[in-house]
Order: sequence, then structure tokens, then C-alpha cells
Amino acid sequence: MPALDVQKLRKDFPNLNLKVYGKPLVYLDNAATTFKPQYVVDAISNHYAHGASNVHRGVHFLSEQATKAYEDSRQTVKVFLNAKSTQEIIFTRGTTESINLVAQSFGRTFFKEGDEILISAMEHHSNIVPWQILCQQIGCTLKVAPMNQKGELLYEEFVRLLTPKTRLVAMVYVSNSLGTINPIARVIKEAHSRNIPVLVDGAQAVTHHPVDVQALDCDFFAFSGHKIFGPTGIGVLYGKQQFLESMPPYQGGGDMIASVSFAKTTYNVLPYKFEAGTPAIAEVIGLNAAIKYVQAIGLENMAAYKKELLFYGTNILCSVPGVRLIGTAREKTSILSFVVEGIHPHDLGTIVDEDGVAIRTGHHCTQPVMEFFKVPATARASLAFYNTKEEIDILVKAIYRAKEIFK
Ligand code: ALA
Repeated sequence: MPALDVQKLRKDFPNLNLKVYGKPLVYLDNAATTFKPQYVVDAISNHYAHGASNVHRGVHFLSEQATKAYEDSRQTVKVFLNAKSTQEIIFTRGTTESINLVAQSFGRTFFKEGDEILISAMEHHSNIVPWQILCQQIGCTLKVAPMNQKGELLYEEFVRLLTPKTRLVAMVYVSNSLGTINPIARVIKEAHSRNIPVLVDGAQAVTHHPVDVQALDCDFFAFSGHKIFGPTGIGVLYGKQQFLESMPPYQGGGDMIASVSFAKTTYNVLPYKFEAGTPAIAEVIGLNAAIKYVQAIGLENMAAYKKELLFYGTNILCSVPGVRLIGTAREKTSILSFVVEGIHPHDLGTIVDEDGVAIRTGHHCTQPVMEFFKVPATARASLAFYNTKEEIDILVKAIYRAKEIFK
């Protein structure tokens, strides 16, 4: 595997040259959102400067050009996820909307009172709240598979919670607040052995390792463009064709119809049935560029480098007196959540920010995880392939400065 030329690749990201408070920016908040390479910025601005037009609606040159670019992106996503067909790729606003779509279209149509939906204890709010809303609407029950003190799924407990009433397993692949990589292939196999479909929240997974939806055999897979060096406001729902065909539209409007009269409307074919209204065309084009950028470097190459960074970061953080890592799963990605004795994470975040270091502090949209670990919040450094060991050193130095202030 070729080693990454990180210094060269960093030049692709204009934001990495920023200074904050006169200090070079150290950006360690990649789980919140990743920076965008110039290649992606150019793809978006080229669309607006030289091709802005609507899609699927015009016979004129620009509209056809925009439609081609839009559908090219769908093809790129299909290959990226190894879906069987582009009909299985729905563009949404992001992972959150993808999950809401499944809850409101699939869940609301096919689940009934007393049915169960099984999630895990480490879900992001976006894989909790849509199911709670559904439960309120139709009277089904949300069940939660627990984790251990390392932040690992208790697999036997998960299996025990699968019952004849379970209609769906909805589980995060990679935890955004702990970094845990769940044994998702095993989870899917177990659920399928009982004929239970599985939705995978892949928001943090797509940037960490290649995903093959056919090999995984998941029924739904959701991710967001902005976590993989693409624009905000664009995401994907992959769904197996037989499920998507059976589901009613999520939203009504233009483009998702075959014909409309006041008496009756018929719906468009997949994937358009789920894409009502003018879509996020520039963002879809930006997503195409982002995936191509990632493919050119290779997710495996990025993962190998980030593994080194994680190892380095884990060791050095653990060597700081008073630092406790939250999330120590054996299988984890380059996410370092931690607390420092005697310093509230928000204070820590503010102090390290003065040194130019951007980390996220708070509950990371996983309040139940914070509750489980009995902490109000954590500080989180989340590493991308463009980060370096020197940047981790700067974070650690900033933590020592915070400790001095709070001594
Ligand atoms: N879910 C995003 C995060 O983990 C915003 O920060």
C-alpha cells in the first residue's frame, strides 16, 4: 500500500492554510464536518458559473448538461457503495433525512402497534428521534441494545432483544462520539436469519473504510456528503430495490410524479419517486467530485494512515495526567473522545481554541452516550487523513496549558 504524501495532499485543502488568532489552524473536528478540497469547490463553482440549470425538466442544452452531471453523480455513488442499480440511490439532504425517510415511509406503512424497532445504545440522535416519532404515531416500541464500558455493543444482549415483533434493526456502523466500529456484518446476518431488515447509519463509516452494500447485504444505508469531503446539504439513502418499490413517497411535489390530476396522481419510478422538488444540484455535483477525490487517494490508504494517527493520539493523550478516554473499543476509528479531570469540556474547548486547535466539545448529538458514561460532555478530536502527529502534539500542549490555568 503506498504511503500517503500528507504534506502534498494538505495543499488540496485551502482551509488548512487558515490562521486563527494569528496561529495556524489545527482542525481536529472532522467527525462534525470535513474540509473540502479545491477540486470539490471548483466542481460546485463551475456548475454555478458555467452550467447552472435545473435537472430533468428542460430540453435545452444547459438543462441536459445539468441532468447528465446530476445522474453521473448517482452512478458514482452506485459504484462507491457497490449498489446493484442507480435506482437504489436516493439523494437526500443527509443521513438524518435518509433515516427520517425510512421511518416515515417504510415504518409508517409497514409497522403496526406493538411492533419493535431495535437500535443500539450508541446511536446519534438522528437514529433515535425519528423512531421515537414513529413510535408515538403508530404505537410501536423502541428497544435499545446495550454497550459495555469500552463502548462496545453487547452482542449477546443485542441477539436477546431480537424478538418475533422486531420489524427493523437500525444501527450505527461507526459511533461519532466513541469511534466504535460495530460488527455490522454480523448484526445484519443475525437479523436476516430472523427475516428482520437492517438500516445502517453510515455517516461516519463512509470516510473510514470502503462500504459494499451488497457484501454487507444491508437493506438501507445512509450517509452524508459533508463527512466525506463533499458539500453540506446532500446525502444518500441506499435501499434495496424491492423495499424502495414497496414504499410510498416521503414527500410530494415536482419530479416525483408520473401524472397529476385533481382526481388522481401516479408516482414516478425509482429513484425519482423519493426526490420531490428541485434537488440540491450543485451539492450532488460536489458529492460526485468528493467521492472521485477519495477514490483517487484510496480509502484503504487513508485508513492505514489514520490508524497510525489513532495509535499515536491514544498513547499521547493517555500519558497526560487526568485525561480519561471515553470510548476504548478494540475496533475503533480515529475519534478520540476524552475528559480532563477538573476541567469542563467546554472550558477546555475554549482554551485550546485560543491556540488554534478546533475540537468539538459537548454531547455530540449522543446524549444517551454521555449519560451512560456519567459525563456531561466530552472533548473530541476527530482525525482525517490530512491531520498529522505534529497537530496532535499541538493539541496536547494546549491541554497542558489548560491544566495550568485550572490548577
Ligand atoms: N454528527 C456530527 C458530529 O458528530 C455533527 O459532530
